[in-house]
Amino acid sequence: MASRILILDYGSQFTQLIARRVREARVYSEIHPPTRTVDWVREWKPTGIILSGGPNSVYGEDVPSADPGLLEIAPVLGICYGMQLIAHIEGGGVTRGGRREYGRAALVVERSDGLFAGFEPLESVVVWMSHGDHVETAPAEYEVTARSTNASIAAFQHRTRPIYGVLFHPEVAHTPRGSEVISNFVFGICSAEPSWTAGAFIQDEVDKIRKLCGDSKVICGLSGGVDSSVAAALVNRAIGAQLTCIFVDTGLLRAHEREQVERTFRAHLGLDLVVVDAGERFLSSLAGVTDPEEKRRRIGHTFIDVFEDAASAAGHDANFLVQGTLYPDVIESASPNGGPSQTIKTHHNVGGLKPGMKFRLIEPLRELFKDEVRNVGRELGLPEELVGRHPFPGPGLAIRILGEVTPESLEVLRRADSIYLEGIREAGLYNDIWQAFAVLLPVRSVGVMGDERTYDNVVALRAVTSQDGMTADWYPFPPATLAAISSRIINEVDGVNRVVYAVSSKPPATIEWE
Ligand code: XMP
Repeated sequence: MASRILILDYGSQFTQLIARRVREARVYSEIHPPTRTVDWVREWKPTGIILSGGPNSVYGEDVPSADPGLLEIAPVLGICYGMQLIAHIEGGGVTRGGRREYGRAALVVERSDGLFAGFEPLESVVVWMSHGDHVETAPAEYEVTARSTNASIAAFQHRTRPIYGVLFHPEVAHTPRGSEVISNFVFGICSAEPSWTAGAFIQDEVDKIRKLCGDSKVICGLSGGVDSSVAAALVNRAIGAQLTCIFVDTGLLRAHEREQVERTFRAHLGLDLVVVDAGERFLSSLAGVTDPEEKRRRIGHTFIDVFEDAASAAGHDANFLVQGTLYPDVIESASPNGGPSQTIKTHHNVGGLKPGMKFRLIEPLRELFKDEVRNVGRELGLPEELVGRHPFPGPGLAIRILGEVTPESLEVLRRADSIYLEGIREAGLYNDIWQAFAVLLPVRSVGVMGDERTYDNVVALRAVTSQDGMTADWYPFPPATLAAISSRIINEVDGVNRVVYAVSSKPPATIEWE
């Protein structure tokens, strides 16, 4: 059986990143809740076990814990809360730190083997910390392997058994050598085989989808974005003609999007594509609504209504609905496995589904990150112009018009957005940016055009770099590019007299504005 790493999710926002790092090392990994029993875990046959971080204190009430039996099954790595738990159940001391350690810290490696193989003895390395509690004393059988510069315990290992702990987060990009630490655990300590690839993923999913669907008809909602396209291509590979793709023109799409999607899917994939014109239906469901979560909820429900109607109109008794849900959508809408992570916003294809809908969901990409999805897309033979597209959210322009969505506001935003993207492509910057889009703000400001006073809309431009949408930095455009785009928008889009650029990273902002 192929190597696989079990990750128990104690509620950290970064748990998915642990899975991602392990899979980048080409080892399969899955995330499960900390309530899995020792028997269940033994049955699952992990090659190694990682205990994630989490927001709790090991001394808190009703906090998730770990059965000491877990430490007997396979090598274990505890990260942050995971390390504190190991310290706690093995008889070490964990104390509530007077001051939280949050952000960049320096670490001095005391043992350059095990997790730190390849590091120099006493080497100082930059790591990222995010914790309130400290490991005050290591359990008796444990040896400290790294300390923070203030001499506190930052990593330990059992003297004879393969049990390791780190207080810092090796999974985040801000710990530059974190991948080495994870590889040392996965390969050096667990002796896992690097056999997990896009090709292996496709084969696995194709088998699962065939088994799940049997002879049933399946429909897939296409948005024209990368995720739903890859999901459709994958399900198409599994069940061919049993799949019908439905592209809903929500009226919330960008300029020329509908034509592009029709062309790409019919020409490139030869898929059975039904296009539904539902602009009026979506707009009327959004009339008068200004609350962001309420907008998302209504859009999610309208999608399902439209799919149900389209499926019966096409004479389909489809039982399954394919969605291109990704890991970040799942983690930010709710913890994927019932763990205690917080909801940031309800992505329509996860939290906004209608209760009682008749479809069962197939979400073959639910465990993947965007760049993994792109690799799967390439492996499935999708064209680069599609695979390399910037992400576009299911709720479309509706969550980029702050406040009420009207036909007029859509028109203004569509034009501004299309000029913005054109400017970025002309400057040759499209592929350097994770995602770029315009946002229409619900404020007006004073301007002067010709000799006349104007009192018009403000358009905000957003562009970010990111690896997976979980964290993001704003993109530092050359000023001349921004200036040219701003002046084109004001000159060519009626009703806009001011353009601003968003310079907030995620966190604390999110990428979309609603
Ligand atoms: P945020 O705004 O949460 O966005 O930082 C992270 C990434 O997710 C995309 N996004 C969505 N995608 N349905 C989607 O399919 C949604 O409801 C949704 N909301 C946000 C967003 O565009 C960014 O790439």
